[in-house]
Amino acid sequence: MILLAIWLATLLSRRISTLTKGLHNFQLGDLETRFNNENNDEIGQLADAFNDMADRIQVGFQLLQEEIEERRMTERALEHSRDHLDDRVKERTEELMVAKEMAEDASIAKTDFLANMSHELRTPLNVIIGFSDVMARQMLGPITNPKYLEYIEDILNSSHHLLGLINDVLDVAKAESGTLTINNTVIDLTELVTSCAHMLDDVAKNKNLEIIGNYADHPLKICVDELRLKQVVINVLNNAIKYTPQEGTIKVSTRRNKEQHFVINIEDNGIGIEHDDIHRIFEPFGQVDSAYTRSIEGVGLGLPLSKKLIEAQGGTIMLESTIDKGTKVTIILPANLAVQPSQKENFEETLPLSSQKLS
Ligand SMILES: Nc1ncnc2c1ncn2[C@@H]1O[C@H](COP(=O)(O)OP(=O)(O)OP(=O)(O)O)[C@@H](O)[C@H]1O
Ligand SMILES: [Mg+2]
Repeated sequence: MILLAIWLATLLSRRISTLTKGLHNFQLGDLETRFNNENNDEIGQLADAFNDMADRIQVGFQLLQEEIEERRMTERALEHSRDHLDDRVKERTEELMVAKEMAEDASIAKTDFLANMSHELRTPLNVIIGFSDVMARQMLGPITNPKYLEYIEDILNSSHHLLGLINDVLDVAKAESGTLTINNTVIDLTELVTSCAHMLDDVAKNKNLEIIGNYADHPLKICVDELRLKQVVINVLNNAIKYTPQEGTIKVSTRRNKEQHFVINIEDNGIGIEHDDIHRIFEPFGQVDSAYTRSIEGVGLGLPLSKKLIEAQGGTIMLESTIDKGTKVTIILPANLAVQPSQKENFEETLPLSSQKLS
């Protein structure tokens, strides 16, 4: 009896020891560890439960490994496409740089071409103007046939018109390439505007248009390019006269606003512009097509050139218009162009476009 008990105890202890070793191996990473179980007692049930748990852990572990591998592959693919994207961005940047250089070269070539062309055209044109002026004044003797005199006047007028056009084209090209020369001098803004209005007085009177001035009652001393600003005011005033039918009114005013900017307003009660056409008129050759405008001379350079010239002085030009009611153009020049008491009378500088902004 005692011997049987000892045998049973030894057998039990051996099975428990096998179980413990197996568990230890499993713990160390041998996921294949299983027990051959022939008994259905408690230890056998324990072994079965272990085998079952080991199976599940092994399957879970395999799934985990597969997922990790999948993630690694995704990461590698991502890295590859990121490298590829960097390459594409580099390639595209280089392509854009080349395109930009080509566009700049083309712009320089265009400006050179226009400068050369206008020079080539202006030289003979000035000769035509000079000789037709001599003939119109009959400096070398009288012209008896009045028809000839009329023709000479026409040649003179057309040549002046053509010269103005060539100069406008050249100015637009220069402004686009940022090489406009600005010669600043100290002037009074109201005097400049009234002198422009005076120059166009006869043209307005021919159409029975009234120009009404409403000018600042104190001097508006400003340091600007006088000729360029006159060019702008004449362009805008000329438009107001051209696009206002007989008996209309044109209001011109000068002032400083509350931000101390210099403001010129030119407002007419003429044909106005359709809302959908307004965006085009500051583009070169952006004329509005209508029965009225078709009967009027012009190429569509006045406003785009005026915009460039005003921007070159750091200012802005805006146009508001209502069809059949009229048009109002507002020119704003920055407050920093105001003349300080200590400032010298004459300045000369070449400003790149937009080098000055409204302050
Ligand atoms: N005061 C205005 N009233 C109505 N339309 C205007 C007025 N000013 C300009 N426009 C419209 O804007 C267009 C562009 O004006 P812009 O001064 O640039 O050219 P243009 O007067 O036709 O020709 P250019 O000034 O070169 O002789 C004009 O053709 C006209 O259709
Ligand atoms: Mg015009």
